[in-house]
Amino acid sequence: MMTMFRLWFVSLFIVGLLCGARVFGASVADSYADHCARCHAAGDVGAPKVGDRAEWARRIGPGIGLMYRSAIEGIPNTQMAAKGGYRELSDSDIKALVDYMVAAAALPAATLKAAQRYETFGITNRDFIKLDRNFDGRLSQDELAADPVLLANLPRFDQNKDGTLSVSEYERLESTLEQERAAVSVEDSTLLDGVRSALARVKGLSADGIKVEASGGTVTLTGIVTDAAVARQAYDAVRRIAGIKKIDNRLISAHLLTFD
Ligand code: HEC
Repeated sequence: MMTMFRLWFVSLFIVGLLCGARVFGASVADSYADHCARCHAAGDVGAPKVGDRAEWARRIGPGIGLMYRSAIEGIPNTQMAAKGGYRELSDSDIKALVDYMVAAAALPAATLKAAQRYETFGITNRDFIKLDRNFDGRLSQDELAADPVLLANLPRFDQNKDGTLSVSEYERLESTLEQERAAVSVEDSTLLDGVRSALARVKGLSADGIKVEASGGTVTLTGIVTDAAVARQAYDAVRRIAGIKKIDNRLISAHLLTFD
């Protein structure tokens, strides 16, 4: 009788352990190992390496909300597919995984606080965020210097004359420039020359491997580049050329081809 009871107790204990492991331990760490680690553990294919404090500090700058969104929706032209390619995971599963990865970076409280503050600005325009290096929600002259065309247009679009561009002033500027570029009529052959010489100035880009076509003002870029950042740089280098009505950026990152 006693032995039966003990056996029953022991098996209950084991079942309890197994359940506990699934409900508590099996948690986020296991899900991370199953779904995210193959890219994020070593930082392969351009993924931010888990534990790399500087990299995560930079990425969390505009707020955790935008980071959740990148993980849920994916990042275009990179190996980061929506939900890392695991559509069966819920949005809250993904948020928990992102929290787990952020926690692993052990970011200073000040960094997290600054990210929370940026989030209150409600800014989601990634082009703006990229320029806003000090994450204060405005583009100063120093920050605009990264793009001489924007800097030159600062006086025209700085409506409240505070010497900086807010996100709405910036968006008005970009859409006006786009309209002005499209209104200029340029021969396709001239566009081709302009695009080729702009590409030749992009570091890390072998312009020979890139096919450029222009038809009715639409410029198409096709080819394989080292990574997504270079594809983006190529796009940035040509996007302000007058006469371009549309850019069809079909540059593919080599990572997308070599991954197993
Ligand atoms: C096939 C490789 C791969 C897998 C699997 C993968 N990622 Fe990523 N992830 C990437 C790459 C590459 C980037 C960087 C993209 C870029 O910004 O250039 C990235 C970026 C991120 C970022 C940073 C987003 C930002 O705003 O900067 C987060 C968060 C993230 N991944 C979460 C996840 C989670 C959660 C999983 C698992 C469910 C996952 N990833 C699985 C490749 C992967």
